[in-house]
Amino acid sequence: MKKIGILTSGGDAPGMNACVRASVRAALANHLEIFGIRWGYAGLIRGDMIPLDRRAVANIIQQGGTILGTARSEEFRTKEGRARAINMLQDTGIEGLILIGGDGSFRGGTLLSQECGVSVVGIPGTIDNDCYGTDYTIGFDTAINTALEAIDRIRDTATAHDRLFFVEVMGRHTGFIALESGIAGGAEEFLIPEIPMSIDELSGRLQENFKEGKRSAIVVVAEAEQPGESFHIAQEVKDKTGFDSRVCILGNIQRGGAPTARDRVLASRLGATAVQALIDGKGGYMIGEVNREITYTPLKDTWEKKKAGHYLKIRGFSRGNQGRFFAHRLSFRPG
Ligand code: F6P
Repeated sequence: MKKIGILTSGGDAPGMNACVRASVRAALANHLEIFGIRWGYAGLIRGDMIPLDRRAVANIIQQGGTILGTARSEEFRTKEGRARAINMLQDTGIEGLILIGGDGSFRGGTLLSQECGVSVVGIPGTIDNDCYGTDYTIGFDTAINTALEAIDRIRDTATAHDRLFFVEVMGRHTGFIALESGIAGGAEEFLIPEIPMSIDELSGRLQENFKEGKRSAIVVVAEAEQPGESFHIAQEVKDKTGFDSRVCILGNIQRGGAPTARDRVLASRLGATAVQALIDGKGGYMIGEVNREITYTPLKDTWEKKKAGHYLKIRGFSRGNQGRFFAHRLSFRPG
């Protein structure tokens, strides 16, 4: 293998730049040429790529976003779109491709590798942490720390006013961000999509808490299917309990900012390992980290298999057993 490409796809995540940097440096150290493909699959279809050298990735380890740009490409979902992308890869002689993204990007990567002879390796980069095959995705740690900082600030004003707050965090169809930022922030209740809970139950629990002397509370809500749903939830809780509240939607703030040390280290390790995987002929896998060990998960599994249950279980957050303490405090999205 002489020439490889790298792209970032889907929602950006802090640490993507650290990953690009590590892959570039590892590629050059192994005498490979490496091209940065701009704007994800959309750029691949257009042939928008630039050669990357050591200098091109200098001083980016601390930067959020992605120097390559990213996008969600509708065209790449079509066979015709992918055929154009394959032509571009063949024209430029790229034999191996590193994809940094989430499960949607890996779905596209699986099809791409099935439809052409290029070796494709995935690296999990999304704040959502919803990729099967890795304990953590690049960007998750930064995102939960950003959310935590916001929760801590909201705690101050909630306490000062004796108020109930609904704090809505990102995470698409999963509650990883809600769970970890909420636990760290001492949230009173959680609404996450993994286990549904009705408004009645949530209202009852809040009422119980307030009867026992609580004067303020924070409910962390995962955005799930409908970002902004917290406003409706707050209104419904008010209708049932009379509790006035404030709603805070953290939104895309969670995607920006300098990556934490943990994200930079994870990104650097996975970025360098991905290059080695291409050299070793291990295409078709996502490189992840489970119990701090590098793992190779077939790309197909990363989006076909669900991480949620497994993740909650290994961390002891399942209902029953030692997760009881959390389970009884966790409230979940209305079903
Ligand atoms: O996948 C990352 C993510 O931030 C999700 O948590 C969120 O649902 C989505 O992207 C938002 O995407 P956009 O910024 O394109 O609206």
